[in-house]
Amino acid sequence: MTSADLVPPQVTVRVPGKVNLELMVGPPREDGYHPLSTIFHAVSLFDEVTVATADEWGVGVSGPQSLGVPVDESNLALRAARLLAEVGHVAEPVHVSIRKDIPVAGGMAGGSADAAAALVACDRLWSLGLPRTELEHLAAELGSDVPFLLSGGTAMGSGRGEVLAPVLARGSYHWVFALSEGGLSTPAVYAECDRLRGDRPVPPPSPSPEMMTALRSGDARALGEALSNDLQAAAISLMPALGEVLDAGLEFGALGGVVSGSGPTVAFLAEDNEAAIDLAVSLTASGAVQDVRRATGPAHGAHEISAPRPG
Ligand code: C5P
Repeated sequence: MTSADLVPPQVTVRVPGKVNLELMVGPPREDGYHPLSTIFHAVSLFDEVTVATADEWGVGVSGPQSLGVPVDESNLALRAARLLAEVGHVAEPVHVSIRKDIPVAGGMAGGSADAAAALVACDRLWSLGLPRTELEHLAAELGSDVPFLLSGGTAMGSGRGEVLAPVLARGSYHWVFALSEGGLSTPAVYAECDRLRGDRPVPPPSPSPEMMTALRSGDARALGEALSNDLQAAAISLMPALGEVLDAGLEFGALGGVVSGSGPTVAFLAEDNEAAIDLAVSLTASGAVQDVRRATGPAHGAHEISAPRPG
């Protein structure tokens, strides 16, 4: 037996976080979900998910954003691995190790990203070679945002977010993310959105011409003006400090700012890399923001960064 034989086979997949450049929310459906029209945009804040053959199922979390991630059966990446094992008739357990840099419960789909990464990693580890459509189907079962994190880039989402269509999007963008100390619960933010709307009629969600034009042109200034999120008022209602964060970013020269998904992370668009650095410094120095991260978008979806070791 060589030393390579002792190393269990493992696969590592890198996966980005996302921001919704536009998020239009309709009235709740009968199943409780809200119909959406959204523009997903993957950004270069990455988690890395490693799956390795093990004696029993398990999950561990490390990295700058690991606080608050469940390490029991409720962990979405572990659930993704188990789901794929069931579908692929795989009997061997894996240990899932997640290195987190995407904020937890931050509106950037960190948990969904890990699930997408676990699907891709286990598909490779077990040499299943599932067709893309099958992986997308399993991803949608795990969560509304999971299919997008498989593909990445910039894409339109409808249904509850799981139905994806390509959009013509040019350019690459510089983002500054203002992180909050606590998270927000996605169901609570949707419920607050319904509460704030009361009996007001809500039109069916559809993409805005302003956003489509901005993406086609690749003009950061136009994109900054077109950013919008129907969940923003609800997120601010539950966490009023977010209003001050948005004001601070715009005052410090951001081209636009928007609460990311269900929040509480706030995304600011900057003119270029230098402007993003200046904005990040100003936000930190002002004391209005706990922590900031810079990133660029669009970023690639879940992709393998290591081949299985010989074993
Ligand atoms: O699909 P996912 O599990 O990520 O959704 C989490 C929760 O967010 C849902 O249980 C639901 O309360 C809310 N949600 C919604 N409408 C959507 C997506 C999510 O109401 N389109």
